[in-house]
Amino acid sequence: MRRRTTPDSFDAAAVRPWNAQLDGLGFGGDYNPEQWPAEVREEDVRLLQEAGVNVLSVAIFSWATIEPREGELDWTFLDETMDRLHAAGIRVALATATASPPPWLTRKYPEILPRLADGTVLHQGARQSYAVTHPVHREYALRMAARMAERYGDHPALALWHVDNEIGCHVPRDYSDAAAAAFRTWLADRYGSVEHLNTAWGTAFWSQRYGSFDDVLPPLTAPMFANPTQQLDFDRFSSDALLEYYRDLRDTLREITPRVPTTTNLMTTSATKGMDYFSWADDLDVVANDHYTISADAERHVELALSADLARGVAGGEPWMLMEHSTSAVNWQPRNRPKTPGEMLRNSLQHVARGADAVMFFQWRQSQAGAEKYHSAMLPHAGTDSAVWRSTVELGATLGRLAEVRGSRVAARAALVVDYPAWWAAELDSHPTQDLRYMDEVRAWYTALWNRGVTVDVVTPRTDLDDYDLVVVPTLYLVDDAGAANLASAAERGAVVVVTFFSGIVDEHDHVRLGGYPGAFRALLGVRTEEFAPLQAGERVAVVGKAVGGDATADLWTEHTHVADGTEVVATYDDGTLAGGAAVTRRDVGSGSAWYVGTRLDRAGLDALVTCLVEESGLTPEVAAPAGVEIVRRQAGDGTTWLFAINHTDEAAVLDTPSGTELLTGSAVDGPLDVPAGAVRVLRTTA
Ligand code: GAL
Repeated sequence: MRRRTTPDSFDAAAVRPWNAQLDGLGFGGDYNPEQWPAEVREEDVRLLQEAGVNVLSVAIFSWATIEPREGELDWTFLDETMDRLHAAGIRVALATATASPPPWLTRKYPEILPRLADGTVLHQGARQSYAVTHPVHREYALRMAARMAERYGDHPALALWHVDNEIGCHVPRDYSDAAAAAFRTWLADRYGSVEHLNTAWGTAFWSQRYGSFDDVLPPLTAPMFANPTQQLDFDRFSSDALLEYYRDLRDTLREITPRVPTTTNLMTTSATKGMDYFSWADDLDVVANDHYTISADAERHVELALSADLARGVAGGEPWMLMEHSTSAVNWQPRNRPKTPGEMLRNSLQHVARGADAVMFFQWRQSQAGAEKYHSAMLPHAGTDSAVWRSTVELGATLGRLAEVRGSRVAARAALVVDYPAWWAAELDSHPTQDLRYMDEVRAWYTALWNRGVTVDVVTPRTDLDDYDLVVVPTLYLVDDAGAANLASAAERGAVVVVTFFSGIVDEHDHVRLGGYPGAFRALLGVRTEEFAPLQAGERVAVVGKAVGGDATADLWTEHTHVADGTEVVATYDDGTLAGGAAVTRRDVGSGSAWYVGTRLDRAGLDALVTCLVEESGLTPEVAAPAGVEIVRRQAGDGTTWLFAINHTDEAAVLDTPSGTELLTGSAVDGPLDVPAGAVRVLRTTA
């Protein structure tokens, strides 16, 4: 395999910003001109300009168009596209064209196809049918990337490289022979000797002891639960293997075009757990994210906010790109609802409020054929006489008015801890309950904070927490000693730290920390749990205490918890086998405090508890706003701030804001700020 590495001479500081040639925010989407005849491509240019588009992702799925037969290259459409877009003043996020191998490649080398855990082969005919670890696939993909860099590296339209596409989207876990071989190499690197692997995996159990790395397989479909640490390491390996694929392509591009920034589009949704994006961050010159709202989710705008905050967390607080979302319906949910009037604009500006410096879509023109023909686009089947087109044009104009927010950062004093390995480990099989979903817990806490108008930064257990007054740690089942110590030191320093049930239970190898739960946080929280008592489906218990609003109910989880001296029980179980026992506790720690929530509270109980925590940590909302009006602030180094007010309700809101200039209407505000029902306002204030 032709493995490239970033040359020693590479100068990271010389990489130009992706938006160096743009005046303001990025606006555009995926552009697939190969699906259309010449006259349509001509019309595209006129309409792209009419909408104010300034950046397009091109050639994502173009490999088979460029190379229909091995070695026969036809660059006509891409040459024309690059030149035409350049002439129109539009920049290009140019893809490596590798997101789907051409049919001749998988026919010639069927061994590059990925496999499921039960051996099912994922054939060509859709997309992403390749094993990222297969050396033959890698060779061909790197060659394709190199060709793109050689041909277009100096093209004036090129803004950045878009590596592959949503790496790991359809095949986050591949169980092919190539993956098995790469897994063994990864394990040998991690453990050094098979004895260390045996210790880490606890293979004294069920006669699983390995005599050699050669005997190790991925966790294939087996008669009973696979070894949990094997499963966890396979998750870690798979994320690393997908990242290594990105890196190889990136290094190939970098060798030829060292000044062109490189990224790939992540998917930081509450449903995508395949990749540990925090470990990918250092390899991306700019974080790019894709997000789609879910039709069946009544609070999809809150889930969107979480996804955006997670993208910003991966970016370490830097501005990021929204690389894809939809103008209206998608095609891949069971029932695909169109967006309501104003919803797409609100969605777009939520992302901007939360740090995006680009708003892009899948895709520019709605396809006439193929599996995505019922997916909305900026320019729909109905043409320009349509609400969707008008909303596209309106958004382009709106983003133009917000040019000045580019580069500013989001202000937050609360942190929400999210960790992918903890997510993987928490949802392994053979656990106290099968009903626990890590992201449900993260999302419940996020929603309660969102409802209180608290903006959070999403952080990892290892992030420096000095800037935060409140640190929320939902179900951090797996944590290493350093992560646990970091969270404890935040409380010592003065933060309010709240940890919830099934946290701190295991170390990084998924071995239980002995002596009582939650092992890693026992001292911090001043609690010790003997046994978990998960609830049956539909079972509820009553919880009482001022901190949970008087009376609350809880489901999913309870536990038998003892409290140490100095730990106050602030809510107790009021019925069931644990009646009278501690449900929520609090303890002074250094200059801060540590709270433990040993159950899953209902919404009202959690809202009341979050209100207590917010008060204790001294957080005040940016601006008092009615329920459903989202307030987020971006700020620049010179003291200028932009207050985004996004009204998700059917009622007009009147906000008591400082005076300033409202950018969407261009009006001076000196008195209350009116935010009509469903509308967005962005108020600039200066220090
Ligand atoms: C993304 C993908 C796009 C398009 C889109 C549809 O996952 O990157 O190519 O398929 O979904 O929602």
